Formats: sequence, structure tokens, C-alpha cells
Amino acid sequence: METPICDFIDSYVKRGTVRLHMPGHKGKTFIGAEKYDVTEIRGADVLSCPKGIIAKSEKNAAATFGAAQTVYSTEGSTASIKAMLYLACAYAKETGKNEVILAARNVHKAFCDAAALLGFGIKWLYDEGGDLLSYSLTAQTLEKKLSSMPVLPVAVYVTSPDYLGCVMDIKAFSAVCKKFGVLLLVDNAHGAYLKFLEEDIHPMTLGADMCVDSAHKTLPCLTGGSYLHIKNGVNEVIGGYLDTARSLFYSTSPSWPILYSLDKLNSYLAGDYGERLNRYVLHIDKLKAFLSGSGYDLKGSEKLKVTLCPKSYGYTGEEISDILYNSGVEVEFADKDHVVMMFTPENGTKAVFTLKKVLAKIEKKKPISAAAPGLSPRKGVLSPRQAVLSLSEEIAVNDAIGRVFASSAVACPPAVPLIVAGEEIDENAVGLFKYYGVEKCRVVKK
Ligand SMILES: Cc1ncc(COP(=O)(O)O)c(C=O)c1O
Repeated sequence: METPICDFIDSYVKRGTVRLHMPGHKGKTFIGAEKYDVTEIRGADVLSCPKGIIAKSEKNAAATFGAAQTVYSTEGSTASIKAMLYLACAYAKETGKNEVILAARNVHKAFCDAAALLGFGIKWLYDEGGDLLSYSLTAQTLEKKLSSMPVLPVAVYVTSPDYLGCVMDIKAFSAVCKKFGVLLLVDNAHGAYLKFLEEDIHPMTLGADMCVDSAHKTLPCLTGGSYLHIKNGVNEVIGGYLDTARSLFYSTSPSWPILYSLDKLNSYLAGDYGERLNRYVLHIDKLKAFLSGSGYDLKGSEKLKVTLCPKSYGYTGEEISDILYNSGVEVEFADKDHVVMMFTPENGTKAVFTLKKVLAKIEKKKPISAAAPGLSPRKGVLSPRQAVLSLSEEIAVNDAIGRVFASSAVACPPAVPLIVAGEEIDENAVGLFKYYGVEKCRVVKK
């Protein structure tokens, strides 16, 4: 597979051109990536309206992922998600649909921020089980919800895989969405690699209309590299809005080392990556089977993620994370209830054996019975946009019941809001704040 961005930058570096342009390091080595770090020089392209090497590279990525169009971001899926939602609003305008999105509540904060910036309406889908980070949404529930809505939303929005590694039935959701004539948008930030599994379960393959992947989370890309994929048909309706989507949410100074990395990835993925991935997944399958057999509770079916729910083993997630840290292992995320560990083939098998060895040595104790509070449906008082743009003040969580939440800031990771701006703070929200150690919160001023 061709690498037009890498080729251009490599030849620029080779020529030894005097750099009388940004950035200020001028290609000299400070941390090592500077030589790749250029700007919109002659022959380079412009990420906000690409027509040259970036457009060519994006086309290669689209072919790799089976999309009609793929749009790069160097500011992560956080930017790509906002662009995707802007395009969904444009689709609504073009097709006379309602600018409302029906979203499973365990969204990343980028969704809520997009609602505050773009002003679209939200209808939430809550999970009866009420786990904050993971939703067990079924196609039947989705169909029931859509049937009950007097005015249909323009799109359904789901997060799959979620932070804990749970994967939703995108194929079934796609069939339901088609039946109702609404778009299916997927936050697939954690699932770029799903395309290369023996059974390709990438959302674009399973029928999503648009989807966002963080290339950097599961593929060997520099942090910040992300894709927005758009399906044939949808692309024809919103293609004219693409440059505005990029321009609204992307910097005018994109990172060229990240573009280089995204471009290089196309040729890497066209090589033997798929075979290596599928061989590696067998090691993770075995590790999971060993851990289950040793008494650990595991969550999620995502192949490269190992999520422990260690309270039943007698430890909080934070305690397990500390033990691992002291044994030379740094995990992705830990809270009271979970430890999330992310593998890729780049870890090699030694990492699998190390984790197995450390976890096997931990002695099982009496289970911890205290459970996390569930998430109750909230009362929306203002729109996220009205609330975020209101005069606001910080108060103690203990004094917050009945007040309207006004902030878009949430703990990251996992950046899943306990409460969304514009919602009334109730006892359940206060319980969640306390459980996760939040003492103060921002509310709309009276
Ligand atoms: C589910 C989910 N969506 C979106 C994002 C944002 O992705 P990025 O870090 O690429 O901006 C994250 C980040 O962790 C995430 O967990």
C-alpha cells in the first residue's frame, strides 16, 4: 500500500531544505519526532480540506476499513465524534429529519460536549441494570424505544466496544435502524482492530452509517490519530459539509508526526498484521480462561481487553492495580470495581505471561460486598448548551441536591459523565459523586 504522506516527508527531510517555516524546532532533534514535524509547506496538503497527499492517504484508509470516505483527525476521537455529530445534524437538515439523537447513556464526554456546541436534542436510552460504564442494550429494547417515539431521531448513537470491553450487537442495531430510517452512529474508539479479527466485526462491516475509531488506542499509531468513517449513501448526502466539520473542530495546525503515523499504518495493516493479531488473540483467550479458572470475575467479550471485576476476589480494582504497579505492570484504568488492561500484538507474549504470573500469586480473600450505585434516569431541566453557557458556580456536592449541573468536565479516564450538563442533581447523582470521590461540582447560578 502506498504511503504518500510518509514519502513526501521523508523526501523533504532528505533534501535538507532550510526551514523558514513553523514549527520553531526547525527539524532539530529535541525528543526525536521533530524531523517529521512540518507544516502546510509546498507539496504538503491541508487537513481541513485535503486535495493532495492527505486525501490520497485517507482514501487508502477508507479502502482498508470498507468505508466510502475516511477522515483523519490528529486530535483523537474526541474531535472525530464532534465532527460525526455535526454531520448527523447536517444529514437531518438535508433530509428533513429531527435534530435529535437517541443515545445509550454510557457515552464518552465528547458526545455531551458536541450537544452543548451544536445544540442538537438528546433522548437517552438507559440500561435497566444501570452500570455507568457498560450497557447491555439489545435490539429489542432499541426497537421498542424507537416505536414509542412520536417523532423519530435522526440517529441512534452507541458506544461499542465500551471502556470495559463489552461489545454491542451492531448488526442487529443496524437492521432496526434501517427499519425506522434512522442513522446508526458508533463510537468505536476502542475497536479499530475489530476489522482484522478472523471474523471481521468492525461497525462499518456490520452496517453502521458513520463510526469513529481511535487508531492510537488499539493499533500502533501515535496518540491522537483517529478515523471518522462514512458509509456509501450517507456520504452523498453530507459530503458537502465535510470540510466545515473538520474546520469547526480540528486545529489549523494538525500534528504531522501523527499524520505520518496514520499514513504508515495503512501499509502496516496491509501486511501481516491480521495474521499476527489473530495468533495473539489466542494467547489472550487462554489468559482469560486461566484467570476465570483461578476465580477472577471477568467482564466483556472484547478480544484484546482484559477487564477484571475483582471485588468478588476480595480486592478493589485500585488494590489490584497497585499490586500490578509494584510488579512492573501499568494498567489502562482502575476504579473500585474494575481493572482494565489493554493488550495489542506489540506487547508480545511476555506481557501475557507476566500478567498471568502476578495475578496467579494474589491470594483470594473474602469478597467485598459493597456495590457501586447504579445510574438512575435523570430529569433534564435545561439543554446541555443552555447549562454549559449559563452563569455557574462551584458548590459542595452535599449542598447540590435540586441544583442544575453546569459543567462538561468529568474524570478522565473513563470520561463517561455521571450527570450531564442541564440535568437536575438528585440523590443518585450525589451518591455517585461520593462513590467516585467527587467533592465539589459546578451548578447553574440561581
Ligand atoms: C469510548 C470512548 N470514546 C471516545 C474516546 C475519545 O478518544 P480519544 O482519546 O482518541 O480522543 C475515548 C477515550 O478514552 C473513549 O474511551
